[in-house]
Amino acid sequence: EKDPVTVLVTGAAGQVGYALVPLIARGVMLGPDQPVILHMLGIELAKEALDAVKMELIDAAFPLLKGVIATTDVVEACTGVDIAVMVGGFPRKEGMERRDVMSNNVSIYKAQASALEKHASANCKVLVVANPANTNAFILKEFAPSIPDKNITCLTRLDHNRALGQISERLDVHVNKVKNVIIWGNHSSTQYPDASHATVTTDSGEMSVTKAVSNDQWLKTELIATVQQRGAAIIQARKQSSALSAASSACDHIRDWVLGTPKGSWVSMGVYSDGSYGIPAGLIYSFPVTCEKGEWSIVQGLKIDEFSRTKMDATTNDLIEEKSLAYSCLNE
Ligand code: NAI
Repeated sequence: EKDPVTVLVTGAAGQVGYALVPLIARGVMLGPDQPVILHMLGIELAKEALDAVKMELIDAAFPLLKGVIATTDVVEACTGVDIAVMVGGFPRKEGMERRDVMSNNVSIYKAQASALEKHASANCKVLVVANPANTNAFILKEFAPSIPDKNITCLTRLDHNRALGQISERLDVHVNKVKNVIIWGNHSSTQYPDASHATVTTDSGEMSVTKAVSNDQWLKTELIATVQQRGAAIIQARKQSSALSAASSACDHIRDWVLGTPKGSWVSMGVYSDGSYGIPAGLIYSFPVTCEKGEWSIVQGLKIDEFSRTKMDATTNDLIEEKSLAYSCLNE
């Protein structure tokens, strides 16, 4: 039997956390033959709920689950962690200023960055889910300088999967026949869901999605708007934000990162920009990536037309603005 991998989930008593921990314990994240130890971090206010999640994990008798810690102690939570999924955060409540939300999250991610840096495994892989995801990841990177840049990512896989889902519905093909959409930029409403490189497999072989939908306007307007606003549509319908799809996509993100992407296909991940496609180096920006042997690389050489350029720049500017807001909160 393999040695267990220790996975941290922060905010584990929340909605996404509650949907995520059973998937991890079932092997959806790391594979059906990989034992796991779960570390769950919560805050005092949610401690009872967190303990209840631990009780349920024990009750479910998962064969792969070799241990569970439920704690409010950030050092205990981060110690020996191989994979950290950061779901905990301060949500935006009605009437709250964007600055207040940012300020709260910046201080959470600053503190947790230091704990991860000091106590997690040297090669710990980090996925930030909590919003503002890209900027929380950026702050984490700033305050954990000894964690390699390549190990700090944020979740845009849900947006990626949403785009695949919309195209599959439109073309009436199974979602696994569609691939290589791209989410560029920020996990916010400025993100750019780009289907111009996507393909679909039909009875007559593989073809571009642009050709298959035979309606470029749909890709350039409705698809983009639907994916950008899908989170809001779920909130409106459910009165709570997406949870099962977020948890499932977080598993997809880590699984592909650790175990690799299938040949000929890429996925979207928020990663440290190296300046590819003219995106300012150092931003945490969502790119198309392939993964092999536990490392992601940005897909190179894709043609970027003027339409895409404008959209990619708009989401860049949004991220630059978030970054300066985050810095100004740090200096308060
Ligand atoms: P939630 O409010 O149900 O859960 C958040 C949990 O975090 C709560 O249990 C809270 O007690 C805990 N928490 C707060 N501060 C903490 C701290 N300092 N340390 C540890 N835990 C802390 O929210 P939900 O619906 O589970 O969403 C979690 C986050 O994920 C939100 O920020 C949400 O916006 C984001 N999200 C991001 C998605 C993406 O695609 N990137 C998709 C869905 C949600």
